[in-house]
Amino acid sequence: MTSEIDNEYRPKFHFTPARNWMNDPNGLVWHKGEYHLFFQHNPFGKEWGHMSWGHAVSTDLINWEELPVAILEGEEGMIFSGSAVSVGDELIAIYTLHTGNNQSQCLAISKDNGRTFIKFEGNPVLDLGLEHFRDPKVFKYKNHWIMVVVKAEERLACFYSSNDLMNWKFESEFGNVGATGGQWECPDLFPLNIDDEEVWVLIISLNPGGIRNTSGTQYFIGDFDGKTFVPRYSTEEPRWFDYGSHNYAGVTFNNEPNNRRIFIGWLNSWQNGSPIQTSWTGAMTIPRELGLAKVNGEIVVTQHPICAATYELVIDVPTSGVVGLKGFATVGYNADTRTIFVEDYDAPYQPKDGKLHLKVIVDRTSVELFTGDGTCCITLALFPPLGSSRELTTFTQ
Ligand code: FRU
Repeated sequence: MTSEIDNEYRPKFHFTPARNWMNDPNGLVWHKGEYHLFFQHNPFGKEWGHMSWGHAVSTDLINWEELPVAILEGEEGMIFSGSAVSVGDELIAIYTLHTGNNQSQCLAISKDNGRTFIKFEGNPVLDLGLEHFRDPKVFKYKNHWIMVVVKAEERLACFYSSNDLMNWKFESEFGNVGATGGQWECPDLFPLNIDDEEVWVLIISLNPGGIRNTSGTQYFIGDFDGKTFVPRYSTEEPRWFDYGSHNYAGVTFNNEPNNRRIFIGWLNSWQNGSPIQTSWTGAMTIPRELGLAKVNGEIVVTQHPICAATYELVIDVPTSGVVGLKGFATVGYNADTRTIFVEDYDAPYQPKDGKLHLKVIVDRTSVELFTGDGTCCITLALFPPLGSSRELTTFTQ
């Protein structure tokens, strides 16, 4: 029975581990010709536990080869989320060590392209003695390193700097704004350009407190000078990165060779789990290239899937009613409410220049809807009954 269920629900082009539990993407980095996708993994079961870093590599971000576990939990504790940087021939992982009541930041070094890691003997490299201090994202800024890491319960993103990855200097913190109805987790911070101007994006996942109070991801647009993040717009209302409930803990690649900013999220939420008895639990979103656009005079983040859409709709904007695709799921645009939707999730969207452009990515257990301009998306994990067709057909209503 398991193999029948596996065949039916194994995604065709979304990464899943061969077996056992997976959550957050970790250590996304391009290093010596390969994209590395490490991930929160329980090598021993289909439930969360024994957290370690699983590992997969790819040259095109779509076809992944899973490799043996890269960083295994040890007697010292579990290996929580973090990032990786490419330093010459070495790949260096910066992760959170989780013990019963303490979370600290640690290093592990690989000299064989991420196949094996040795935990740094000087660990931890950053320990405040806090119970909820985790998910370091480290990246190169000018000639040194910056780490953004969260005090999860205090809803704070903390910025540190370092010359050597071992000694970290506190610079500033930012938080308690936007969505604050859950723990802040998995921060990311990076620059993007629009109209020849550099703008910084701070991504913060939070759980719960997202759309429908599930796990969710928000972002802030601002400026960063190596020390302080200053938002450009009001932070009273959250800006959602995704209007579905299943795009969580997502972060972007370091060292992308074509200077693209590529994002991958965990295609799930802490409230969802997997209702189906497959050999694995959890999938990743399709990788998305991030950019910026202006909507109503304000800069917003755009997301474009890096693969061709399964379905694409380009039509004159209807003046009323609903247009879309239906089958095991219903997706589309509602002209009366000016929203795009997947099932009963919707997002405000105003098509421009009289054209409606929707891209839909359908796999065995997911639907991702993007607007053609990338300004809006909805990601949902779906497990239709055994035997359901995944084909969608157009409809108007
Ligand atoms: C986010 C998260 C992280 C943590 C990891 C543990 O989903 O809770 O904050 O490092 O998962 O698996």
